[in-house]
Amino acid sequence: MYNLLKGKKGIIFGALDENSIAWKVAERAHEEGAEFVLTNAPIAMRMGQIKELAAKTGSEIIPADATSMEDLTNLVEKSMEILGGKIDFVLHSIGMSVNVRKGRHYTDSKYDFTTKGWDVSAVSFHKVMNVLYNKQAMNEWGSIVALTYMAAQRVFPDYNDMADNKAYLESIARSFGYFFGRDHKVRVNTISQSPTPTTAGQGVKGFDGFISYAEKMSPLGNATALECADYTISLFSDLTKKVTLQNLFHDGGFSNMGVSDAVMEKFTEE
Ligand code: NAI
Repeated sequence: MYNLLKGKKGIIFGALDENSIAWKVAERAHEEGAEFVLTNAPIAMRMGQIKELAAKTGSEIIPADATSMEDLTNLVEKSMEILGGKIDFVLHSIGMSVNVRKGRHYTDSKYDFTTKGWDVSAVSFHKVMNVLYNKQAMNEWGSIVALTYMAAQRVFPDYNDMADNKAYLESIARSFGYFFGRDHKVRVNTISQSPTPTTAGQGVKGFDGFISYAEKMSPLGNATALECADYTISLFSDLTKKVTLQNLFHDGGFSNMGVSDAVMEKFTEE
């Protein structure tokens, strides 16, 4: 461990269980000396094991539905009280599509579902930054990261409307990141992660095929949740102060591949 986040204070959204990417980020942030508040939707608190994570990392939990400005305002105010000052890092690790959950095909979306999923998965990032920005809750040289997937740029048919949500999320990172950088010297980036076996990941139809295809395509293999956490920590640290407005691929090289030998072999088998 490198003490990369010594003295830093943060808010971590989205740790549901030990497979969650946010769970690994919380564990790594704790190891690197950070103090933080854990948050998740009230319903997820009842289902999840977040209390265990809080005990392990000496953190407090504040429930917040990331689509509610009221909840987010309470979260940010209470976090500053608990942590005794402004925030240095924020992880947005939230995604949910009602169309996916209800098994609606992309070509037959139900638009109430589309709107809800878009609010949870994309607009919530705008709302989180709105509260942080207007409350002047971030320290200078702070860092905000959201997690995304490459279906924002390329077609993955079973990713459904999450592809559109991720494209919107990545755009918010750039648009809000400009103002956050200009006015508060805060950086905003998205990490585009490999398919990862979590609750949200496994909700995608055909996930097993998806993850093994990506594994075979990537020269370094798929990035794990723990590796994603390591990368996130680097973006929260002072070693990446001038990285902002970026969508950063953390995918073992997948995004720049055309075809790999391992995939070719599958198609040339007798
Ligand atoms: P996860 O299921 O462990 O985490 C998703 C989280 O979103 C859960 O903790 C859930 O409670 C939270 N959430 C849902 N609705 C919410 C709301 N209204 N308010 C607050 N929180 C809410 O799954 P995972 O994979 O760790 O997901 C984290 C992020 O990583 C998501 O943005 C996901 O799209 C992204 N990602 C995941 C990949 C994968 O294959 N698992 C690949 C690339 C990106």
